[in-house]
Amino acid sequence: MTWMQAVIICAAVCVAAAERRFPEGFKFGAATASYQVEGAWNVSDKGENIWDRFVHSRPEAISDRSTGDVACDSYHRWQEDIQLLVDMNVDFYRFSISWSRLLPTGFSQRVSADGARYYGDLIDGLLAKGIEPIVTLYHWDLPQPLQDLGGWANPMISDWFADYARVAYNLYGDRVKTWVTINEPTVICDIGYNNLIAPGLESEGRGSYLCTKHVLLAHAKAYRLYERDFKPKYQGQVSLTNHMMWFEPATEQDVELTELVKTLSIQRYCHPIFSSEGGWPPALERYIAEKSREEGEPRSRLPPFTQEEKEMLRGSYDYLGLNHYTTRTVRPAAPGEHIGTHLFDGFKELGVVLGAKPEWPTTMSHWFMVHPEGLRALLVSMKQQYGDVPIFIMENGLSDTGADLDDQPRVDYYRSYLEQVLLAIEDGVRVVGYTAWSLLDNFEWMDGYQSRYGLHHVDFSSELRTRTARRSARYYAAVARTKDIHAQYQFNKTNTVKGV
Ligand code: NOJ
Repeated sequence: MTWMQAVIICAAVCVAAAERRFPEGFKFGAATASYQVEGAWNVSDKGENIWDRFVHSRPEAISDRSTGDVACDSYHRWQEDIQLLVDMNVDFYRFSISWSRLLPTGFSQRVSADGARYYGDLIDGLLAKGIEPIVTLYHWDLPQPLQDLGGWANPMISDWFADYARVAYNLYGDRVKTWVTINEPTVICDIGYNNLIAPGLESEGRGSYLCTKHVLLAHAKAYRLYERDFKPKYQGQVSLTNHMMWFEPATEQDVELTELVKTLSIQRYCHPIFSSEGGWPPALERYIAEKSREEGEPRSRLPPFTQEEKEMLRGSYDYLGLNHYTTRTVRPAAPGEHIGTHLFDGFKELGVVLGAKPEWPTTMSHWFMVHPEGLRALLVSMKQQYGDVPIFIMENGLSDTGADLDDQPRVDYYRSYLEQVLLAIEDGVRVVGYTAWSLLDNFEWMDGYQSRYGLHHVDFSSELRTRTARRSARYYAAVARTKDIHAQYQFNKTNTVKGV
């Protein structure tokens, strides 16, 4: 190499390094979910869902005893939401359809005209502004009538879900090109059956595994349906998105246990779909079968897949969706030690307690500590396990008290996590998109409105639910426009009020 060539190469690399820029074609967006933002829980003919029932019947389960009855009132204020997205220069908006708003009984023979209109208007409104809609079919708000029939523990639910998916594909498939069938199966099944969130049932290690199986099958049926009847004319893409923490051993002795935790927490939901052999991860299948035997169970608590189900699941994806927030450490519980039942305290099945390194900053969500490097490690491990699949980060973001519009820690969070995404891309991982959680402060499930994830502040005490851009919204707008994580931006607390 000549001296001149070296200078030219160095200049190119150095500029790229200084700018830390995402490749052309990489997409930036922001997300919300129906129950967390829409409100209007009983307008028109909308049916009751498990979150309506849960917050109304178990107010003490929500830390500030709040509900999503009104939330951000996005049912009425969706045009303001679109304006915020426009101001942020994002490529897409990820939102979810409320199953009970579209199908008031949960079943597909009666479609709500109001529900169909609402999502149709939202989709058209986005497209008119050049923002792509990414639609999640299920973000935890199951129609109550289906819960009354057993919910995710009833094997019929995969058909009911596919029927619902067909209605949505028929209504919006011409305009929606990216679908997310199910958001975070692990939260639906492991937390939902640990009596912490709706439906508030207690059946860890049994109901939770029935749920796991049926959620996966529901996804696969909705995927195959799209593939057969809609993909030929619409050419869209379908997958699910999984909640993936990254795990590190607490000590050198905990390396093996940490691998088992990854198998339970991540691969249980990925292996059946993304691995080349399909089915449950063998190590987990063996572990639960053995443990069930020791406990005197007549069969494994992890229900098996038939060969046909395995084949239906295997390869039922067009991209790999993941939601990532945090990294946790893994250690075995001491003899007799109580493993907390709070969100992500540990895994009773494995006798594991989750912790965190003291240097990882804490957040408003008790399960969530900041460790950006975990995201790169997770992305690289996805590629190692499942090959060169396009990876779509469907959620990432920071919770705080929401008190300050000048949320510099959130800016730092986004910058540092995005930097790790860039590093993973340099490692050869095919990351194609990134979604900030969340567009707005919203109803944060069991934390109510005490934990805020919004790029925009929402004033829940005002009838207008006034939205105001935080510093992080201005930062993210600059990143989305330039694809550079060090992009310059302006933030002025006084002139950012929207929605009046
Ligand atoms: C993931 C969930 O999909 C979303 O609903 C939730 O608000 C965020 N995690 C933050 O906890």
